[in-house]
Amino acid sequence: MLAAQIKPITTRTLKTTLVPIVDLSIRSFSTSAIRKTTLITADNKVKPSDDDTKFLTKNQFEHPNYESELLDTVKYEHRPCKKPSDYIALSMIKILRHSFDFFTGFKEANTKEESLKIYNSSKRMTPEKWLNRIIFLESVAGVPGSVAGFLRHLQSLRLLRRDKAFIETLYDEAYNERMHLLTFLKLGKPGIFSRSMLYIGQGVFSNIFFFSYLMCPRICHRFVGYLEEEAVSTYTRCINDIDYGLLPEFNKMEIPDIAKEYWHLDETANMRDLVNYVRADEAKHREVNHTFANLKLRGNTIDRNPFALAIKESDKKQPSMTLKNSKAQGWEREDLIL
Ligand SMILES: [Fe+2]
Ligand SMILES: [Fe+2]
Repeated sequence: MLAAQIKPITTRTLKTTLVPIVDLSIRSFSTSAIRKTTLITADNKVKPSDDDTKFLTKNQFEHPNYESELLDTVKYEHRPCKKPSDYIALSMIKILRHSFDFFTGFKEANTKEESLKIYNSSKRMTPEKWLNRIIFLESVAGVPGSVAGFLRHLQSLRLLRRDKAFIETLYDEAYNERMHLLTFLKLGKPGIFSRSMLYIGQGVFSNIFFFSYLMCPRICHRFVGYLEEEAVSTYTRCINDIDYGLLPEFNKMEIPDIAKEYWHLDETANMRDLVNYVRADEAKHREVNHTFANLKLRGNTIDRNPFALAIKESDKKQPSMTLKNSKAQGWEREDLIL
């Protein structure tokens, strides 16, 4: 009697709680459905949810509006190591990059011939693979600015002194990285495997970065500077693949509204334009973090953030948040008005 009463309740509970979570995986269970990122194109676009249409807020950190004629001048550049701490930061990035490339089967291509060779091999970067890689990396890239900004915020409260405007630039960087992520999520839906990796990756990386920043903020900024060098390199390869005609699927994709609004793109903007803006953002993060790593960030007299306020009355060129006067390797302390 009791079993007869319990059984229907259990079945109903399972149906209502489990089915929406596992959804398609139960009906068409396949490893590819779990692993692969699904492309969202004009043909399989889902109706915008309430999340996309209701209670929208303005961008809390306005994009600095890059000079469009300078976008194509952005390129990969490496800051040579000058101190032992630079070697530590660079080695960590190289280990992470090579491991990630090895496990995801990504190969670098420096010429058109190399790109074509990869395209005709099993290492071909399909649009799904590109989006999978970008979504994972952007979810990690949003961590440093947010953690560093939070720690500097706490420091300002604890030491009862101003922070000299680092917090805002760091939060702006974190916001910008999350805009990259939210934009690419409108173009591809990661599978369960990628999402699980993302959980693990964030848990491990955020904790390590938190404690590292407490101890050595300058090494952490150098680490992020080198990380951003790799991001510029990756997006350059993506732009080259588009230019070589190896990603025709990208031409069919609609640029999400969220991206048009944030980067002030017009209706004719395409995937190349979007990736070009994202690459320029990464180049800016590279410059900002390499510069921060050259500054005095601790002690009684800390330097000011030179990106937060443009000095106009000086003949000496100074940093800004746009692409003008950019220095890929960062600004040396002696060149700055602090
Ligand atoms: Fe990014
Ligand atoms: Fe970045």
